[in-house]
Amino acid sequence: MDHFQLQNGVLHAENVALPDIAEAVGTPVYIYSRATLQRHARVFRDALSACSDAHLAFAVKANPNLAVLKVLASEGYGADVVSGGEMVRALKAGMRAEDIVFSGVGKTGDEMARALDAKIGQFNIESEEEGAELAAIAAAKGCIAQAALRVNPDVDAGTHGKISTGKAENKFGVPIREAAAIYARLATMEGLNMRGVAMHIGSQLGSLDPLEAAFVRLGALIADIRGNGQSVTHADLGGGLGVPYRPGESPPSPADYGGMVGRITKDWDVRLMFEPGRVIAGNAGVLLTKVIRVKPGAVNPFIIVDAAMNDLARPALYEAYHDFAAVQPDGARFTANIVGPVCETGDTFAMGRETDVMQAGDLAIFRTAGAYGATMASTYNSRDLVPEVLVDGDRYAVVADRIMAGTVMDAERVPEWLLDKDMDGGDA
Ligand code: LLP
Repeated sequence: MDHFQLQNGVLHAENVALPDIAEAVGTPVYIYSRATLQRHARVFRDALSACSDAHLAFAVKANPNLAVLKVLASEGYGADVVSGGEMVRALKAGMRAEDIVFSGVGKTGDEMARALDAKIGQFNIESEEEGAELAAIAAAKGCIAQAALRVNPDVDAGTHGKISTGKAENKFGVPIREAAAIYARLATMEGLNMRGVAMHIGSQLGSLDPLEAAFVRLGALIADIRGNGQSVTHADLGGGLGVPYRPGESPPSPADYGGMVGRITKDWDVRLMFEPGRVIAGNAGVLLTKVIRVKPGAVNPFIIVDAAMNDLARPALYEAYHDFAAVQPDGARFTANIVGPVCETGDTFAMGRETDVMQAGDLAIFRTAGAYGATMASTYNSRDLVPEVLVDGDRYAVVADRIMAGTVMDAERVPEWLLDKDMDGGDA
C-alpha cells in the first residue's frame, strides 16, 4: 500500500496535491512519501519478527537521498553501501557506523581504508584477493576488519538478466563449493575477523523458490565452515524481494518472505542480516511529469512527456514496466505510446499502453519510481538533473535541487590551446 491516491479527482502524495508541487518545483520531479517509507520499513521489520535481533541495512543504491536515508535511520535501519560515496551518505544521514555493511565487487583499497577509519560494522568480501587486501590494510592500521564472505550459490533468481547476481557466471561472490576453504584461509589472516557469510542472488524476485534454494545451500555451507573449526556468527541474506509494478501483480509479500526465512534458518544460530532496497523504497516514490504534446503515430499516438530515459532509466535498461496515470483523470482511456524527448528510440516508457487520455500540459506520474529512479538519473542530452521532493502529511520539502544543465557545463573547460577568437572558454 502506498500514499499516492486520488482525493477529489486529483492525485495526492499523502495530503499534498501533486499539481501544487508541479507549480512550485516544476517537472519532471521525483516525489517520495515519508509515511510510505515508514510503513514499508515497519512491515519488513515485522515480517522478520520470528528472527530475533535481525540486522536491517537499507540498500542505499536503491535511493541514496539523504532525507530518505534519514527517515530509514529513524526507523532503526542501517545501510548496505557499495562505495565510499554511499558510506559518507549513510553516516551523514545518521546511520551508525556499526550498522553499515560494505558490499560490492570492486572495493578499492582507498575505500576499504576509509571504511576502516569510519569503523563500519562489516565488510562483505567478494573474493579471496579482496579479503587479503582488506586484511593487510587493517593490519597496517592496527585494527581488525569484521568480515563476511559473499558466496555465489549458482542459483538462477528468475529475474531480468541484468539484475541477476547469483549464477556461477556472474561476477559476484566466491563459488559456493570453494567457499569453506577460502573462509578457512581468510580466517587465519591478521587484521581480519571472519564472522559470517553473505549472499544476494538478484533483485525484483517474483518467487521465493530461488531464494529458498540459495538459503538452503548457505545453511549447508555454515555447517561445513563450522565443521572445519571456524566460527560463523552472522549470515547476511541480501535483498531482492520484488514489488508490484503492474496493477494486479502480486510478488511474494514480506510476510511470506519472513516465514520462509524463519523456516530455513531456524537452526542456524546466527544473527541474520538483510539488505532490502526496492521493497522499502519502490512504491514510496513517483516521478511526476508533464505532457509536452501528443503526436499522431503510425499505430498509436505518442504521448511525449518531459521526463525521459535520463530521469528514469529502468524501461530503457531492463524493459521495465512503470504504471503511468494522469494526475487529474476524467475517466476517458486510449491506447498510446509513452515517450520522452531524448533523441533515441530507447527513450520509450511504454508502447501500445492503455492509459488515461492526455493532452499537452496535463500532469501524469510514473509509479513505483522510488527505488532505482533518481539514483540512476543522468544529464544525457544536456538535460537538467531531476530534483526530488519528500512529502510528510500536508507539508513537503525539496530534498534535492534540480541541477541545471548550465551548472554541469560550468564544470567543463575548453583548454586554452583549443580556443579561437569566436569561443569564450577556458577557466572563465
Ligand atoms: N544487496 C546487494 C549486495 C545488492 O547488490 C542489491 C541490489 C541489494 C542488496 C538490494 O536489492 P533489492 O532489495 O533492491 O532488490 N538498478 C536495478 C536494480 C539493481 C540491484 C542491484 N543490487 C533496477 O532498477 O531494477
